[in-house]
Amino acid sequence: MSIFICYKFFFLFFPLLVVGLDDCTTTRCSKGGPTIRFPFRNKFLQPEHCGYPGFDLYCDKSKTVLELPFSVKVEVKKIDYASQEIHLHGLDGCLPQKLLYLNLSASPFQFLEDDRLSNYVMFNCTAVERKIYNNIPCLGVPGYQVYCIPSYSHSDDYDLTSCIKIREISSVLWYTLDQHDLHLKWSEPYCGKCEAQGNICSLDTNKSRTQCTNKPKTHRSEQRGDLINAGATLGAFLSVGSLVVFYYVYSSSRMKKKNRATIEKFLEDYRALKPTRFSYAEIRNITNQIQNEEKSVAKQGKKFTWGTEALLTATKKTT
Ligand SMILES: *[C@@H]1O[C@H](CO)[C@@H](O)[C@H](O)[C@H]1NC(C)=O
Ligand SMILES: *[C@@H]1O[C@H](CO)[C@@H](O)[C@H](O)[C@H]1NC(C)=O
Ligand SMILES: *[C@@H]1O[C@H](CO)[C@@H](O)[C@H](O)[C@H]1NC(C)=O
Repeated sequence: MSIFICYKFFFLFFPLLVVGLDDCTTTRCSKGGPTIRFPFRNKFLQPEHCGYPGFDLYCDKSKTVLELPFSVKVEVKKIDYASQEIHLHGLDGCLPQKLLYLNLSASPFQFLEDDRLSNYVMFNCTAVERKIYNNIPCLGVPGYQVYCIPSYSHSDDYDLTSCIKIREISSVLWYTLDQHDLHLKWSEPYCGKCEAQGNICSLDTNKSRTQCTNKPKTHRSEQRGDLINAGATLGAFLSVGSLVVFYYVYSSSRMKKKNRATIEKFLEDYRALKPTRFSYAEIRNITNQIQNEEKSVAKQGKKFTWGTEALLTATKKTT
């Protein structure tokens, strides 16, 4: 039993032991979440040299979080390491409201479609029926609605009676205001070619440049990830397997004891010549045991005759 517990614990903690060995291992915040590897790192789990400045991520439960300057928290939906693109989604509350504080020039990222960026003018309007589709629901309060009108358009084109201009938002894409999505790219560090070739990009020992190293047949860290998964799966499988075997052995020995007791009672009664009533199930159990015995006797090449004597020999053998 103690060995059983020991190896169960070994398989439970084995994955943790493996994780502890290499701190720059590829990680992720959830099973379907984006992989985190150079130039990104998990800033709470991995040392600085695992990533590049400005590429610090962390996990908020199962979400992968990036903080853009200044204090704009966004969720990372997808990282394309080969094309050096990152897909982000607004986190906690209203992204359009926080765009005022977003300053990408203080980050390593740029807008992906920077040729399609527009400036918008934000209007605070009384909530009446208007033929304007550029509503930003999360900025509205009861009785008021907020619209973002592209600054290149003529405000005469819009029904802006009883509206107040609040502010201007420069250089954004409509889907950022509408769907709270941000698609960014980075050019530094340049690892795209290395990634596209399936190699490993990392900081060189001088920590001033990146280096591209050949990946063995499978990525070491991914191999490790597989090993961790394999360890966890095997551990869980063996644990469950052990429990099943343990229960089976336990219950079958209990069953045998019970059957034996019934047979002994039968024999006792037979010897005392005072037959007792047996339930159908009990008789079936006894005959099954006798039949098993019959098979094993037949295997040994002995002729088996159905009778009390045989029954006695058979049952004696099982006890
Ligand atoms: C954005 O950040 C850069 C670098 O920190 C700074 O020079 C610039 O003034 C900032 N722009 C705004 C609009 O705050
Ligand atoms: C719009 O105006 C109303 C009334 O003055 C105000 O309560 C609300 O906060 C304003 N909304 C924005 C986003 O400024
Ligand atoms: C680090 O960089 C300096 C200058 O760029 C170079 O002289 C030196 O050999 C490098 N050291 C290593 C360990 O690569």
